Amino acid sequence: MFQLIRLPQFSFSRSFALIAAVALLQACAYNSEEDLYPNGDACDTSDVSYNQDVLPILVNNCYVCHDNTNRQGGIILEGYNQLKTHVNSGRLIGAIRRESGFSPMPQGSPQLPDCQIETIAQWITDGAPEN
Ligand code: HEC
Repeated sequence: MFQLIRLPQFSFSRSFALIAAVALLQACAYNSEEDLYPNGDACDTSDVSYNQDVLPILVNNCYVCHDNTNRQGGIILEGYNQLKTHVNSGRLIGAIRRESGFSPMPQGSPQLPDCQIETIAQWITDGAPEN
């Protein structure tokens, strides 16, 4: 009976490993934030490019359902001209901003991070160039 309620043994090396793991995790979190926002915490939308900024967001979050093969809902976002039709109709921005009257995208996932939405919105404001 007494042996069943024995406390876990304190181990110096185990505590050290835990502290090291936590420190490592924090270092990783800090690094990835720096990559996302190279100019500090601000979301930089001063020079948005279709190829470098907008496309990766769509490829990573939307192509799984909306590329040339997976045309869910009949919506194809792959290829500039096909994407442009959904820019012009207002459906692209309406869907990712989750405005009423639009299907919330990406479907089945949380809303895109604010900076990604702002990036796409700024690109559209710029005239959605194929840059
Ligand atoms: C898991 C699959 C899935 C993912 C991921 C997904 N969609 Fe969709 N999307 C759908 C389906 C299914 C429809 C059609 C049915 C509907 O409107 O709900 C749709 C419809 C749409 C529409 C038309 C909305 C409307 O109201 O007319 C747009 C625009 C769209 N998606 C854009 C996107 C964008 C941009 C992303 C990425 C940020 C994305 N989708 C991610 C499945 C998906």
